Amino acid sequence: MKRVLIIGAGFLQDFVICKAKSMGYEVHTLDADPNAIGFKHADYHAVVNIVDEKACLEYAKKNHIDGVLTAATDYGVLTAAYIAQKMGLPGLKYDVAKLIKNKYLVRKCLFEHKVDDTEQAFEVNVDTDINEISEKLTYPVMVKPCDGSGSRGASRVNSPEELKNACEYAMDRSITHRAEIETFIFGKEYGAESLVVNGEVHVLGVMQKWMTEPPYYAELGHSIPTDLSPEAESKVINCVTNAIKALGVNFGSINMDMLITSDGKVYIIDIGARMGGNMIGPCIVPYGTGIDYMAAMIQNAVNDPVDFSVKEQCAVATKLLAFDSGMVNKIPDIHEIEKKFDVEIYHHLEEGMKVNEYHTNLDGCGYIVAKADTKENAVIKAENTLAYLKEKLFN
Ligand SMILES: Nc1ncnc2c1ncn2[C@@H]1O[C@H](COP(=O)(O)OP(=O)(O)O)[C@@H](O)[C@H]1O
Ligand SMILES: [Mg+2]
Repeated sequence: MKRVLIIGAGFLQDFVICKAKSMGYEVHTLDADPNAIGFKHADYHAVVNIVDEKACLEYAKKNHIDGVLTAATDYGVLTAAYIAQKMGLPGLKYDVAKLIKNKYLVRKCLFEHKVDDTEQAFEVNVDTDINEISEKLTYPVMVKPCDGSGSRGASRVNSPEELKNACEYAMDRSITHRAEIETFIFGKEYGAESLVVNGEVHVLGVMQKWMTEPPYYAELGHSIPTDLSPEAESKVINCVTNAIKALGVNFGSINMDMLITSDGKVYIIDIGARMGGNMIGPCIVPYGTGIDYMAAMIQNAVNDPVDFSVKEQCAVATKLLAFDSGMVNKIPDIHEIEKKFDVEIYHHLEEGMKVNEYHTNLDGCGYIVAKADTKENAVIKAENTLAYLKEKLFN
């Protein structure tokens, strides 16, 4: 029985933990939170901070791990690469993991390889002369933490006067205190999920995304299929494949966000070297493409043959449980609602819980997942469920 170590044991990693269990692997997991939900389902766990590379390696060595991976969080990416490299296990090269963790370096790399339609990009830190950079910029620009996630700290800047504050806001939300400035792109947002096996890129799915209104840039939902033409979708697949190659990604999951303009230009805006969050692994890719993505990802990590066979597929749409601020009065019978609307609901709501107005991914309380014959029907089901649930939770 092979032993797999999942870095992180939170709500979204728990799906991977359960999948690995169901496949018959011995499952280990690490998380700093002693109450992490995944601890209940893994065979073995330890309370360890997942950014502590050395402590995680020590656990992996002591337990003779055969494969390591992280999912749906950027915090475990370097640690997983570190363990794989030190133990000679399948994994992403540590240097590549480091590169991908820096949005500015990623942009620079994609620009130099002419992968997408990228334009200006600058990195700033506490010592940078913001006025000097400001003179070089064409506005509007987007400012975000170099190592951000979940849309924290990202803001649009329309004029030089706003730049300094936006940079400080982003730097304050960066672990390394650095921000990136790039051209603001007016486009629709899409995502792509890929798995690299033996150096070969498999683009598993292209997803449509729904986002909040500015000034917040947080995800509200996904769907497969998208509204893109087959030609546009192949341009995306091409772009994604070239980006993965340009960055030197040799192994594992790659989640990308991109903006596509009305004249068909593709801009890659964010890359994570791990499975995407927001139910991409457990629901969106497997339902929408018929590929058991999490299983393939786990097989890849432990060096077992990877099964890309296509099973049953349909249109799928998700909606985040994104609310205005308020207090959860009473949790209705979720199973009843699932039956009534023919959807799946995954949540971490609790009675009496205070909910923040939805500004970043961290404010989300879970997901509604709807399957249907068409994307439109799936979206309607998910939206109707969300409206109903809102009513029941807060009134
Ligand atoms: N250059 C840009 N132009 C327009 N919108 C952008 C740009 N960069 C990011 N955004 C918006 O901000 C969101 C968060 O940025 P992203 O780089 O994906 O950060 P995170 O790592 O926090 O997800 C994106 O999903 C997108 O909606
Ligand atoms: Mg993103």
